[in-house]
Amino acid sequence: MRMVDIIYKKRNGNELTEAEIQFFIEGYTKGVIPDYQASALMMAIYFQGMLPRETALLTKAMVDSGESIDLSAIEGYKVDKHSTGGVGDKVTLIVGPLVASAGVPVAKMSGRGLGHTGGTLDKLESIDGFNIEMTEEQFIGNVNKHKLAVTGQTGNLAPADKKLYALRDVTATVESIPLIAGSIMSKKLASGADSIVLDVKTGSGAFMKTLEDSEALAKEMVDIGNNLGKTTVAVISDMNQPLGFEVGNANEIKEAVAILQGAKVKDLRSLSLEIATHMTVLAGAYSDYDEAYAALAQNLENGKAFEVFRQFVIAQGGNIAMIDDLNKLPQAAHHIHVTSDKEGYVTEIDAESIGTAAMYLGAGRATKEDSVNHAVGITLNKKIGDIVKKGDVLVTLHADTATPDNSIQKVKEAYCFKEGHVERPTLIYKVIR
Ligand code: URA
Repeated sequence: MRMVDIIYKKRNGNELTEAEIQFFIEGYTKGVIPDYQASALMMAIYFQGMLPRETALLTKAMVDSGESIDLSAIEGYKVDKHSTGGVGDKVTLIVGPLVASAGVPVAKMSGRGLGHTGGTLDKLESIDGFNIEMTEEQFIGNVNKHKLAVTGQTGNLAPADKKLYALRDVTATVESIPLIAGSIMSKKLASGADSIVLDVKTGSGAFMKTLEDSEALAKEMVDIGNNLGKTTVAVISDMNQPLGFEVGNANEIKEAVAILQGAKVKDLRSLSLEIATHMTVLAGAYSDYDEAYAALAQNLENGKAFEVFRQFVIAQGGNIAMIDDLNKLPQAAHHIHVTSDKEGYVTEIDAESIGTAAMYLGAGRATKEDSVNHAVGITLNKKIGDIVKKGDVLVTLHADTATPDNSIQKVKEAYCFKEGHVERPTLIYKVIR
């Protein structure tokens, strides 16, 4: 078999066989197939697409390129969740303890933030002492004991994807639905859960800007999961503005804790309950959606979910005094109110610009090697549908400098207004199974 023939075949819009896909993935992972041929194939796939069967085979080959986590030592049915990435997305911090409060084990492997999006591990590390590096035994032991543990990636999962994603990033081939679907699902499938709930973001701050594209991506990922033996459900949710009111690390922990203590931040609470409901129904903890939703909502009210979070923080070495008194979390030196020079109803808050403004403050990383400042971040005072007068505070920047001019500029650019009344956006567009 020759790589050039595989490229030629895909370039002309033909279907690749299992043997050809395996040949490519194995050869590329081993370094036998060079980057220039892999790039050409990625571009051919970008233009010609892949049939669902080819995408499933590509995903399976990427899973088989590395190790898979064995979670069989964890008692019970394990459901994982994944978000395609958003700004202010602290849903994992809420859903983890919430699902665990229903007795369903959550063995979560999370990542760090890069660019305008944050990462669960960085947020948790706002809590002094919080340890995300565990051996597999510690991880499994903590899940068995507390029903929840969060770790950084362990093992060499889907190395083919790691290499290919880095290549796609620099060859303008990221935005291909089969390639994104295969990339995300290869990592999820290798992570060892029995079922997967996907939060597919749609809107200006998401990878997929239109509902049509988001739905196509969701369907593709659900099909891959189901075809490869893991029941998968996708929720398509809004990312036309950041989720909730807080963006950053310590301040996202604060907002997550508020929800776990029963606060009613509408979009964040509703989306967390939606994701947790699908997870617990898949795990068989409740008989249907309505029963699960009501029980989980109660666990936010009665303190059960918050207590699971507390025990999880203690188990991973975090200073619980910082959770019991949130003022002890890292605090920025300056709190700067950014006011509006315009007026009208807010029509859009570009999530990417808000995420970038937070990154400029130091909450995120421009490159993988950067470190993050846990104290800094952004509190949104206005969201889509709100009326704004000139001089009203749009956001508060929590900064370590008194003049974070580029962040001020960026958040001002993020807000769009119009004169007449604006509806608040739909939060959950569709559920795909
Ligand atoms: N996230 C991934 O993990 N892979 C992609 O291709 C895009 C987003």
